[in-house]
Amino acid sequence: MKEIVLSGIRATGNLHLGNYYGALNKFVKMQEDYDSLFFIADLHALTTHPDPKTLHTNVKNILAEYLAAGVDPEKATIFVQSDVPEISELYLLLNMHVGIGELMRTASFKDKARKQLGIKSDNDENIEKEIIGTDSNKRVNAGLLTYPTLMAVDILIQKAHKVPVGKDQEQHLELTRRFARRFNSYYGVDLFPEPENFNFGGNAVKVPGLDGSGKMGKSEGNCIYLIDEEKVLRKKVMRAVTDEGPQAPNSPISAPIQNLFTLMELTSAPEVVQQFKDAYADCSIRYGDLKKQLAEDILKVTLPIRQRILDIQNDDEYLARVVRQGAERARERAAKTLSEVREIMGIKKFY
Ligand code: TRP
Repeated sequence: MKEIVLSGIRATGNLHLGNYYGALNKFVKMQEDYDSLFFIADLHALTTHPDPKTLHTNVKNILAEYLAAGVDPEKATIFVQSDVPEISELYLLLNMHVGIGELMRTASFKDKARKQLGIKSDNDENIEKEIIGTDSNKRVNAGLLTYPTLMAVDILIQKAHKVPVGKDQEQHLELTRRFARRFNSYYGVDLFPEPENFNFGGNAVKVPGLDGSGKMGKSEGNCIYLIDEEKVLRKKVMRAVTDEGPQAPNSPISAPIQNLFTLMELTSAPEVVQQFKDAYADCSIRYGDLKKQLAEDILKVTLPIRQRILDIQNDDEYLARVVRQGAERARERAAKTLSEVREIMGIKKFY
């Protein structure tokens, strides 16, 4: 039997080059060798109160982006989280075994709670006081607190072995393992496998943004989206942060320039990258040329995907077929796990 791989992306906004190289690209490879499930986490998106008018559009966009990037509904199970109501029920049941304290200590919770409360300092004591305090205009919703339970359920309900996620999700995965172990040992069963992160050969790609600082990220405003139009994409790349240029031969490369080289290594031919590195070393480099080349090579990756996204987005019938089939498959296993859990916990029917 093939090992089960599962991963999800939260339905907030469009997917960018970071998602492509960090996630989608891997999904496409994994679907060949694993029993793969990839889903769109729309319930998780609710924790940060999306506009109800745009939530469904976001789900649809990400679905089209999965498919356009090559995730194949014949090879992988592609589904929408809210189409599997068993997840919501198991979420309630698993929460009975999850501590408020361990959830409150999760890094992502503290970050988001801090943002929702408008706390600038990173003094944890303040957060706890504010959360328990009485000012009802400033509240941190309980869904945000129990975000890791919901994520654990996504994984455990499918009994997944491997979960490809970025560094920022590792703590959530650690909690998932802990909850699995706790459930198994509390009831003396061997129901849930402990899932592990999945790294291709151990080299996690970190796709940098265009603003000279760190990682490409939705909330950083430094993204190249798969759906970006040609003109928009060129403009973004031409505006990327640089420095004043190498002042002497073989100077060390500054962070913003290294970012551009990293993007180039992902999208350009190795000779092209080498040519610009040589030009940097002998100070003949012109950043304008570097960026033009980079934009060109990124477009070679994104434009065909963009075209497919647009085609697929217009094919409502196809999208409906994909998610209906995905939901059926995902629900089949989810229902089985849920009935096992109900039985184990002593929930029985009279009729
Ligand atoms: N929390 C993940 C993120 O923000 C998304 C997610 C939800 C997920 N459920 C999951 C990822 C289960 C992997 C497995 O990126």
